[in-house]
Amino acid sequence: MTATTQKPPLSTHAKIERNVSILGVLAFLAVTVGGIVEIAPLFWIDNTIEKVKGVRPYTPLEQAGRDIYIREGCYVCHSQMIRPFRDEVERYGHYSLAAESMYDHPFQWGSKRTGPDLARVGGRYSDEWHVQHLTDPRSVVPESVMPMYAFLKDRDLKAGEGGTMTGEIKALATTGVPYTPEQIAKADEDLKAQAGMGDTTELAKRWPKAQPRDFDGNPGRLTEMDALVAYLQVLGTMVDVNAAAAQEDLAKETGR
Ligand code: HEC
Repeated sequence: MTATTQKPPLSTHAKIERNVSILGVLAFLAVTVGGIVEIAPLFWIDNTIEKVKGVRPYTPLEQAGRDIYIREGCYVCHSQMIRPFRDEVERYGHYSLAAESMYDHPFQWGSKRTGPDLARVGGRYSDEWHVQHLTDPRSVVPESVMPMYAFLKDRDLKAGEGGTMTGEIKALATTGVPYTPEQIAKADEDLKAQAGMGDTTELAKRWPKAQPRDFDGNPGRLTEMDALVAYLQVLGTMVDVNAAAAQEDLAKETGR
């Protein structure tokens, strides 16, 4: 073997790799710099979600319906997020905007679609259709594999903890959902009023965009069906998506 005076390439690196302490310190520095670059900006950005006009917190009745949606596991078969692909947009409507689920705790994006996406199902069918479909899906869609939820019509709505929505709305407010103190205090009155069993002028003051009516076709009785249909009917209806999309394009063009 002939001895060579030429240093092998990356000889300094070989030194680093053979000294555990130096390697440790340098690896730590590399990870720290990378971490700071990724994480630090988040402390200065107020919000990573762009605000969009029209998005409002759910009314107490809609929120109670949402609780039933979660309790019954509707999310196991239904997603609530339209992805920005042509086939999805053509089938379900404008793709979902981040702001549209900003007040959802927990969000219902879902991970499986046995049934269709529900992000924009609000206003697509009548209340009667929803009641009929939930009562017996096969009576309106013969090939449906969706379970029957007829019992929701026969169960009185016992919303929230101990029959009141105030606690739940308050809890949501602490997570950052902008409920006003008045909306929290009057949660139960507003819930009844939206289901068509109370003062709708008071409701309209606190919830200008809420749709008050009897949802389950059984006026005089407040059922879980009322709440669930109220929730389904508001999905995807808060934002004028075309106006929001135009605003987004403009922001991109002008660099906002
Ligand atoms: C086992 C899976 C499954 C579960 C659980 C399920 N669904 Fe469905 N759902 C379907 C399927 C499949 C369809 C499509 C056929 C039909 O319309 O019935 C559907 C359709 C729908 C539609 C009509 C959507 C459209 O755009 O036409 C609505 C609304 C709906 N489901 C609501 C619910 C709600 C609310 C729950 C919970 C109470 C629920 N589903 C639970 C499978 C499911």
